[in-house]
Amino acid sequence: WGRTGHRATGEVAEEYLSKKAKQQIKELLNGQSLAFVSTYGDDIKSDPQYRKYGPWHYVNLDEGQTEYSKEEANPKGDLVQAIKTSITVLKDPKASKEDKAFYLKMLVHFMGDLHQPMHTGRGEDKGGNDIQVRWFGKGSNLHRVWDSEMINDFQMSFTELAESTDELTAKEIKQIRSGSILDWMYESKELSKKLYDSVETGEKLGYEYMYEWFPVAHDQIQKGGIRLAKVLNDIFG
Ligand code: ADE
Ligand code: ZN
Ligand code: ZN
Repeated sequence: WGRTGHRATGEVAEEYLSKKAKQQIKELLNGQSLAFVSTYGDDIKSDPQYRKYGPWHYVNLDEGQTEYSKEEANPKGDLVQAIKTSITVLKDPKASKEDKAFYLKMLVHFMGDLHQPMHTGRGEDKGGNDIQVRWFGKGSNLHRVWDSEMINDFQMSFTELAESTDELTAKEIKQIRSGSILDWMYESKELSKKLYDSVETGEKLGYEYMYEWFPVAHDQIQKGGIRLAKVLNDIFG
């Protein structure tokens, strides 16, 4: 996601944190909110020191590869490995506060990206970055439409995007929380297939596309926030 999607993910998660998790997160982040730190993963991208984290923002399975496997995974890392590494450091009693704070900020970001379907898309078109489309008359691409164009043009603030979780029932929340990182990745990947089918290269997209798909983006952001809180509650007890 772009900044708004990431911030909304962090904002949703705050609502679902346990007392213990909240306390430890507050200490690690020196009082900064999850929404505030959620964009850190993108902000460090321009710093050569952090270049190695570039591939950690997405995961591509090859055509015909139905299951994620360690053997076929990108040796430079990917979104699944990124989330697992972040969790491992956060659970490590010997890790420094500095390292924990870094990986906490990264985890908040990566749980957002896991729910942006084009971050679990095909490698050959760079998760839709190479699929050019027109967005309200301007040049764009399928990845960018999903990262930010739809959300920005809907003009919903991150707090507004986060708010409507209140409408979810306890049963729905329980359903969303179930499953593993890999299950959530496959769910996002299934959605990406629908999105690839939803457009043709060069297609003119606008309000019709936005009204069909914005609710799906919104849903994904909510799920990302609820699941981020689940992961953090598991880590911090
Ligand atoms: N961003 C850059 N490359 C990407 C890829 N292969 N998949 C998803 N997002 C990307
Ligand atoms: Zn990212
Ligand atoms: Zn993106």
